[in-house]
Amino acid sequence: MSDFFSDYWSYYIAAIALVGIVWCVWLLFSQRKVTKVAGASEDTGHVWDGDLRELNNPLPRWWMWMFLLACIFGLVYLVLYPGLGSYAGVLKFSTQGELAAHREAQEKMQNEIYAKYLKMDVKQVAADPQAREIGQRLFLNYCAQCHGSDARGSRGFPNLTDHDWLYGGEPETIQQTITKGRNGVMPPFASTIDGKLAGDVAQYVRSLSGLSSDPIRASRGESTFKSTCAACHGSTGKGNQALGAPNLSDNVWLYGSSEGSIVEAILKGHNNHMPAHEEILTPERIRMLTAYVWGLSNTGGAGQ
Ligand code: HEC
Ligand code: HEC
Repeated sequence: MSDFFSDYWSYYIAAIALVGIVWCVWLLFSQRKVTKVAGASEDTGHVWDGDLRELNNPLPRWWMWMFLLACIFGLVYLVLYPGLGSYAGVLKFSTQGELAAHREAQEKMQNEIYAKYLKMDVKQVAADPQAREIGQRLFLNYCAQCHGSDARGSRGFPNLTDHDWLYGGEPETIQQTITKGRNGVMPPFASTIDGKLAGDVAQYVRSLSGLSSDPIRASRGESTFKSTCAACHGSTGKGNQALGAPNLSDNVWLYGSSEGSIVEAILKGHNNHMPAHEEILTPERIRMLTAYVWGLSNTGGAGQ
């Protein structure tokens, strides 16, 4: 109602509403008089189907009262609630206000619950069943579309329930990942490594985690790995969490362990993005999620 440019429209609308009600009441009483003057059971002169006549009886009393009560209800409503132009009503009710009050109550309730957990260590929070439930709900809302509802991930989206971390699995690191996001960049090497050599390097990478490999091709690829890949993945392929370079010597693969997948990584590179959530989630919620994610691979919380 505060959208009016001038008071004129406010008065105009209020007048229409009030005049409308007054007119209804006037109409009711004016018709009543007419029927009284005309007599109780005079007919209107309309006849159908031979002998069906329309009578002109007075309006039934109960109906009159219903009508009057409806008008009174309307007037009382207009005094209490907004309806007359920009007049806010005695109760100062507004749907916006109602929503804000509802939100405030909700936030207060949530903050009371979160306050309890803010005082606790993240690892303790992770062990608390109620906190885990809250964490899971948040996870399903904000994270499951990428990491899966069971947090086990899929191709390109890391599994969060195992002990294999790109960036580290300590609560502080997880919190940092959620707050600021991550961008894992592996550069493409197509300009310096041809397809055949890439296949040999892939064989060497497979040998690092004990997968079947051709020893002759693997040994041909080893020197390239040491000179080109070790800078990020480490000389033994154990990875580097500061860069988000995955461990290539275990059996956890973000994109797959086949020679084809590894060759593709070498030639085309990877550019993987985990969005920052500091704009979307309050610090309290990020903390609940940190505890939940940490708990998935610790405290036996996996699969919860
Ligand atoms: C748009 C997709 C997307 C959403 C939404 C998303 N993530 Fe991620 N997340 C990723 C990707 C992709 C990576 C891997 C980044 C990389 O390879 O550098 C990742 C990485 C992570 C990591 C690091 C894993 C490791 O091994 O170090 C954590 C922890 C994580 N996400 C938690 C979350 C949580 C909690 C949420 C919900 C608040 C979330 N993610 C929402 C895509 C997403
Ligand atoms: C500049 C650092 C850097 C260099 C150099 C680099 N990598 Fe990577 N590599 C990464 C990062 C970071 C990722 C993770 C990308 C992501 O998060 O999606 C990755 C991912 C991979 C993957 C996918 C692993 C999986 O779990 O699926 C393979 C395979 C791989 N690199 C092999 C190599 C090989 C072989 C070389 C050398 C030819 C190499 N990398 C050189 C940083 C590097």
